[in-house]
Amino acid sequence: MTSRFSNVTTGPPIEVFALNKAFLDDPNAQKVNLGVGAYRTDECKPWVLPVVRKTEQSMASNESLNHEYLPVLGLDTFSTAATRMLLGQDSKAIAEGRAFGIQTLSGTGSLRMAAEFLGRILKYKTFYYSVPTWENHNLIFVNAGFTEPRTYRYWKPETRGLDFEGMIEDLRNAPENSVIILHACAHNPTGVDPTPDQWKLIADVVEEKKLFPLFDCAYQGFASGDLEKDAFAVRYFVERGFELAGCQSFAKNFGLYNERAGNLTVVVNDASTIAPSKSQLTLLVRGMYSNPPNHGARVISTVLNTPELCDEWKGCIKTMAERIIAMRKGLRERLEKLGTPGTWNHITDQIGMFSYTGLQQKHVDMLVNDYHIYLLKSGRINMCGLTSHNIDYVANAIFETVSKIGLESSL
Ligand code: LMR
Repeated sequence: MTSRFSNVTTGPPIEVFALNKAFLDDPNAQKVNLGVGAYRTDECKPWVLPVVRKTEQSMASNESLNHEYLPVLGLDTFSTAATRMLLGQDSKAIAEGRAFGIQTLSGTGSLRMAAEFLGRILKYKTFYYSVPTWENHNLIFVNAGFTEPRTYRYWKPETRGLDFEGMIEDLRNAPENSVIILHACAHNPTGVDPTPDQWKLIADVVEEKKLFPLFDCAYQGFASGDLEKDAFAVRYFVERGFELAGCQSFAKNFGLYNERAGNLTVVVNDASTIAPSKSQLTLLVRGMYSNPPNHGARVISTVLNTPELCDEWKGCIKTMAERIIAMRKGLRERLEKLGTPGTWNHITDQIGMFSYTGLQQKHVDMLVNDYHIYLLKSGRINMCGLTSHNIDYVANAIFETVSKIGLESSL
């Protein structure tokens, strides 16, 4: 029978979710999931932050709350608090009325709304992303109508660090008005961030070449345990007077992965451009999903706007960041103690949820097939998948794999 759908071809799988499914389907008792970026406790369990649970309980018994539609641009108390969290309590841009936020569908939705606005309204066509980057950046911008995807160098395999010279050279060669996607902190997948001095030089090039900086902010507070420290790059660019977008996700730092709570912070030079910009964003949202969901945004708004809850939450992000830092230390120590070929200082030099281990596909294949340790083909591991119970097993598996396959050509 003929079908209108017969020419539809199967697209490539989404690696991170396909890997997750393979992990779940694996009956092996020793299996370890170092794939998808989600926090786990030392018992390898998802963590509902106690402050989130408490807030949800009080929301559930609050009879004055209802399920009416939110405004098209979302819950104002949420986006105002999220914008302040990113730009800082004493942000000049906020004081001067040059910054605003809109609630979005997590970080992805924020990136998509930014791309829709920059593409359709400001008519930008070119965007740059780092090599490597979070695999969704390209899809989001291309689906939003950007026709010129370009890349800038970022990772230097020889040093397992930042290719700063390559990055600067590529940004210098970018055409005016290109959108430059930057990771505000805890670069995904490498865990390698520019230093404050390097950010200053990046800002010089962005200014000189009239580029548009767009920050993907998925890990504020989660990376170092300190909200202010993790916002350094964004705040520095704002102080320098850039107009910019900051795409915030609250999946990681609030553990609200499936509630799709995000915020798009926009900083402009002229406050009178905010009302027309918001009206265009309203039409873009209306045509895509009409208005955002309530639950996650209300939890976050309640926490950020209640000083005692906010302090409690800061304690939670510290707990998560510290566990990750301890796992980095533990993994490096074990790999070095075992005499694993190569150097492993990059594990502790990197920051945030992910470590770009430098392991190649052949190592990854062996880890998955022989040891049931699941990680991305690029060698990225989610540090939160390590626990005090499985870290010896994982370190030993990496040691055996690298020893067996060799390292010369891989790092
Ligand atoms: C990841 O990078 O693993 C997470 O951000 C999940 C995702 O959507 O890719």
